[in-house]
Amino acid sequence: MQILRIRKPDDWHLHLRDGAEMASVIPHTARCFGRALLMPNLQPPLTTTAQARAYRNRVLASLSENSPFQPLMTLYLRDTTDPQEIQRAKESGFIQGIKLYPAGATTNAEQGVRDLRQLYPVFARMERESFPLLIHGESTDPDVDVFDREAYFIENDLVPLIRDFPELPIVLEHITTKEAVDFITESAEHIAATITPHHLLYNRSALFAGGIRPHYFCLPVLKRESHRQALIQAATRGNPKFFLGTDSAPHTREAKESACGCAGIFNAHAAIELYAEVFSDEHALDKLEGFASVYGAQFYGLPLNEEFIQLRREPWIVPETYAFGARQLRPLRAGESVAWRIV
Ligand code: DOR
Ligand code: ZN
Repeated sequence: MQILRIRKPDDWHLHLRDGAEMASVIPHTARCFGRALLMPNLQPPLTTTAQARAYRNRVLASLSENSPFQPLMTLYLRDTTDPQEIQRAKESGFIQGIKLYPAGATTNAEQGVRDLRQLYPVFARMERESFPLLIHGESTDPDVDVFDREAYFIENDLVPLIRDFPELPIVLEHITTKEAVDFITESAEHIAATITPHHLLYNRSALFAGGIRPHYFCLPVLKRESHRQALIQAATRGNPKFFLGTDSAPHTREAKESACGCAGIFNAHAAIELYAEVFSDEHALDKLEGFASVYGAQFYGLPLNEEFIQLRREPWIVPETYAFGARQLRPLRAGESVAWRIV
């Protein structure tokens, strides 16, 4: 197949940042996605409906005129979050879920959650309202090996949470392991997962190919090849519990190429094209539309996009850098080829 026509996709996990940085990256996402669910780990984090409303207005203001792109919002959970705030978020109509970062798990997660137990009144409210909880599923126990943090979180934090709130809709974000694939596959219908293009395309050897490669560092960190294979199977078999979330996470080149480089991979410039590579290699291009454009919207109870996009199999070379506010970022596949392009 050389041309693929699919319903316009949505990105169910995206970091857009703010200000001039946001203005420079938003066109990459708006060029091909109908909607994106925006992560709240700004500085300061979006912890209230009022903050999310103001951010949404800044996003809308930085879109080009007549852009059909729709930003969808999330709130950042803290130990001190009040169930009333959850109620306000749900009633706002523009907030689709609440994001749980274990404190310190990743970029701007310092103010995240230290004690899940303290939040039981919040989870009870969310369960009653069928309001999705989006989880960065990694343990922050310093004794747990960085490659085991997802599997450890599932066993020690997620299993008890689901036992205590069996009806709470949950998205385990950016899954990276066979353990996560198996867990989601076997769990109830309202428990789903997003998968990024980079976790489908690369394993942890990419981090050390000929030297240390900071642009492949993200969290959860890339895993070994057997896990990547499990993710590919999960994404490309038409299972509605797995859907698209790029986790495109821009940082300046300087912040990545440093003695302590930030976690995050920027992929928005080629996101749907990179997913097309994965599905094409699996001879599963007929499954891309469900993964990219249908299952996520269905999970969140939103209508499908009515527009369509076309992809053509035709290689192009990714630029070495893109603008990121006043600075530059280095995109995934910089200087290398991508096999598909949007027509
Ligand atoms: O690699 C990551 N970068 N993982 C996250 O969870 C956060 C993100 C960011 O905001 O940079
Ligand atoms: Zn993320």
